[in-house]
Amino acid sequence: MQTLIFETARVFAPLLAPARYKGAYGGRGSGKSHFFAELLIEDHLREPGLRSVCIREVQKTLKESSKRLLEDKLAAYALDTRHGFKVYNEVIAAPGDGLKTFTGMQDHNAESIKSLEGYGRAWVEEAQTLSARSLALLRPTIRQEASELWFSWNPRRKTDAVDQLLRGATLPTGAVVVRANWSDNPKFPSVLSQEREDCLSTNPGQYDHIWEGGYATVLEGAYFAKDLNLARAQGRIGKLAADPLLRTKLFLDLGGTGAKADAFVIWVCQFVGREIRVLKYYEAVGQPLSAHLAWLHAQDLGPAKADIWLPHDGSTHGSRV
Ligand SMILES: Nc1ncnc2c1ncn2[C@@H]1O[C@H](COP(=O)(O)OP(=O)(O)O)[C@@H](O)[C@H]1O
Ligand SMILES: [Mg+2]
Repeated sequence: MQTLIFETARVFAPLLAPARYKGAYGGRGSGKSHFFAELLIEDHLREPGLRSVCIREVQKTLKESSKRLLEDKLAAYALDTRHGFKVYNEVIAAPGDGLKTFTGMQDHNAESIKSLEGYGRAWVEEAQTLSARSLALLRPTIRQEASELWFSWNPRRKTDAVDQLLRGATLPTGAVVVRANWSDNPKFPSVLSQEREDCLSTNPGQYDHIWEGGYATVLEGAYFAKDLNLARAQGRIGKLAADPLLRTKLFLDLGGTGAKADAFVIWVCQFVGREIRVLKYYEAVGQPLSAHLAWLHAQDLGPAKADIWLPHDGSTHGSRV
């Protein structure tokens, strides 16, 4: 048995021990890819004959795979034929007749995936793009004794298959998941550091998603994305109670009643000095006026009557609130 000690960032330490599922998610540059590449090489050294597969949802060419990263690692640590590694065009031979292969899930069906049954490690890179179908195909396929499924990803949406699996209410048995960000990476390079700072100033709307591993909450290009993010950054979004002594103002935008009508919206506000507090927001499409009124009645708007502000074309909608 050969062992080699890669230096592991503290954040990944929980992933060193064997586990059926291992996950590392977070923002760009946290060292996720490097960590799993090193762990994979180490596992190949520890377990002669091990077969591993590096997976992406879509892999049109090997250039898109982790092959290059693994090759660079082998070279950096002077691991070669003497240790049982040999790089070929499509695969990398590993110690003890072991093998590392690279594949895209979209090229597989229920039949073809069976070729992976003898594999002891499957590492899914950019796992946020893995479809539910691919995940369902993969899980039962990696079935060898003590086999492991690894996932590294930059979260996109809570509903993505990997997030459902490894960040849901109940984790699968034997799952270890860590969150890693740039600040956890002791080898965070200065070029990325500059990129990160530039992102903070030029694209603050995407910063949390790209660099801190947050879900993509604000769509890029959404009208008010910049203002909303600024409001959040300045602590202007939080929990507020209505002031019972102040008059409430309702700002309405009127929608029609058809299914394709614009939304009917109500902002419930109070003016406190120069501050405008937006307490509640209501939006409904295609509902009758009575539905909007029912919502208004259900709100505790205080003892005083509310002022109602209609848009300039309010009277043409024929609505009287
Ligand atoms: N174990 C490591 N050895 C060498 N460099 C590393 C290591 N981990 C991270 N780095 C550096 O940090 C950068 C980001 O790491 P990477 O694994 O690509 O992050 P992620 O996959 O989380 O985006 C790499 O390009 C490299 O410069
Ligand atoms: Mg990566």
